[in-house]
Amino acid sequence: MIIETERLILRPFKESDAGDVLTYLAAPAVHCFYSMKLDSLEAAKDEMKKRGEDDLYLAIVLKESDKVIGEIFSHPEGTNPEDEVMDTFSPCWMLNLSYICKGYAYEAAHAYFDHLFNERGARRLYAYTEDTNLPSQHLCERLGMRREGLFMEFVSFINNPDGTPLYENTMQYAILKKEWEAQ
Ligand SMILES: CC(C)(COP(=O)(O)OP(=O)(O)OC[C@H]1O[C@@H](n2cnc3c(N)ncnc32)[C@H](O)[C@@H]1OP(=O)(O)O)[C@@H](O)C(=O)NCCC(=O)NCCS
Repeated sequence: MIIETERLILRPFKESDAGDVLTYLAAPAVHCFYSMKLDSLEAAKDEMKKRGEDDLYLAIVLKESDKVIGEIFSHPEGTNPEDEVMDTFSPCWMLNLSYICKGYAYEAAHAYFDHLFNERGARRLYAYTEDTNLPSQHLCERLGMRREGLFMEFVSFINNPDGTPLYENTMQYAILKKEWEAQ
């Protein structure tokens, strides 16, 4: 599955993307992606193989150079554990920080949201972001997502220097298909 925008291609990962991805995942920019840290090119190649099997896990690629500058991914969820209608998705996004502040994340996420709503039967999209992550909050707002709540000390991805969990405050944003269509 390939999505094309003015400046970008969104496509599944290939093994040859390993070097580009290692550039930004050798040291993930935010705590929520620490578990995705890659320690070597070999580890990155293995990761690319896994990702290549998931057609909603997409590389954000510059059209002009075929360089992978980031990623966007989500998985279908039901509204309860027995639900067979998987119409809820929680998109996550990450750019190589050398490519931020150029509108690429918005361009990719807008096209990805369109795809989820129009091709994948999405009814509701939601996103979590740490309360200190202003660029991600701006992106949610630019996409027309509503801020639904702030969950205090909701999750812990890393420990404090003394070994105790560092709890993060998490903001939730969301948008419904009818809201996407109305804007
Ligand atoms: C979150 C993240 C994806 C946002 O990236 P971004 O580049 O700031 O987001 P956008 O694509 O919306 O770009 C917006 C900026 O580009 C500017 N811009 C420049 N050229 C542009 C163009 N042609 N079109 C649109 N915007 C443009 C906008 O003015 C805007 O700047 P502003 O925020 O000062 O108003 C990025 O910061 C990131 O990857 N962070 C690390 C990972 C992360 O935090 N992931 C989310 C975890 S919850």
